Amino acid sequence: MKKRIFSGVQPSGNLHIGNYLGAIANWVKLQDEFESIFCVVDMHAITVPQDPETLRKKTIEIAKIYLAAGISAKGGSASGGDPTFPIIFIQSQVPEHTELMWILNTISKMSELEKMTQFKDKTQKGGSEGAAVGLFDYPVLMAADILLYGTEVVPVGEDQKQHVELARDLAKRFNQKFGETFIIPKAFIKEEGMRVMGLDNPEKKMSKSAESAYNRIELLDDEETIRRKIKKAVTDSGSEIVYSDDKPALKNLINIYAAFSNKSPKEIEKMYMGKGYGDFKAELAEVIIGFLTPFQEKYSALSDEEVLEILKDGAEKVRPIAKEKLDEVKTKVGFIV
Ligand code: TYM
Repeated sequence: MKKRIFSGVQPSGNLHIGNYLGAIANWVKLQDEFESIFCVVDMHAITVPQDPETLRKKTIEIAKIYLAAGISAKGGSASGGDPTFPIIFIQSQVPEHTELMWILNTISKMSELEKMTQFKDKTQKGGSEGAAVGLFDYPVLMAADILLYGTEVVPVGEDQKQHVELARDLAKRFNQKFGETFIIPKAFIKEEGMRVMGLDNPEKKMSKSAESAYNRIELLDDEETIRRKIKKAVTDSGSEIVYSDDKPALKNLINIYAAFSNKSPKEIEKMYMGKGYGDFKAELAEVIIGFLTPFQEKYSALSDEEVLEILKDGAEKVRPIAKEKLDEVKTKVGFIV
């Protein structure tokens, strides 16, 4: 039997090459080896304020990005027989996620959520006093997402590792208290692409929510924007193209080059021996454009209607899986199902 993978992206902000290299590119590679379930996690997105109309648009946009990147989910197969994978669906269309979350909340500790780096980062500016409870509690919802489907492998970028650890801890705790129920999931984090850094600050990860658009190359950026952003990307002192830890900006750009060209950092260093930043950056922009152009063509060819159909079908396919696990959990804790 194939093992199961589950992962998701929040429909907040614009997806960038960090999301692609850290997560989606690996989903595409793993989708046939596993029973694959990929979710648009809109309930996670509302842990910070969202404009409702934009959220709806972004939800469809993310699903189109999954499909354009090569996730081969199809509609029209929900009824009858075993579900066919991969599946993509919208989190809020499967209420079992929040139901399981509630139960997991009762075995989660304040102290383990207080340790979460992402919560600390997101409340750094405004402080945690005024932060939404949902933002604090969000890793428990993520644990529910994962555990509901008997997930064994969770392909994510490095920043999500701590959250997957929590899912493991909660699964173990529940199993201990109520008997074997959950599979203990593992994060799948690939060295390359696991942490794409900001183009304007190589000390921090590239982020959907960074204020400056010069922080990231978005998957839907046009050619001119990509060229401009790469040109503006910060670099280190010196003029040689070398891959080294004491040149974090250049290291990040070489990593991006490597990921989109299937060349190793060493090969790239060699290619640019005796050349400067100008040549390197110009060609890096073209390498990214070479990847994004066909991707964007596939994206544009998808209609909202067909994507919504695939998502609806996906929700219908995952619901019986989710309900079965939730019923088991409810029974174990003493609910009448
Ligand atoms: P989100 O929406 O912030 O990011 C989506 C995926 O992109 C990865 N990522 C990066 N990878 C490399 N470099 C970067 N700069 C970078 N920025 C983001 C993230 O690690 C992630 O894999 N909580 C999750 C969504 C989620 C989820 C889940 C994931 C909800 N439930 C269950 C897996 C399983 C999040 O906010 O990802």
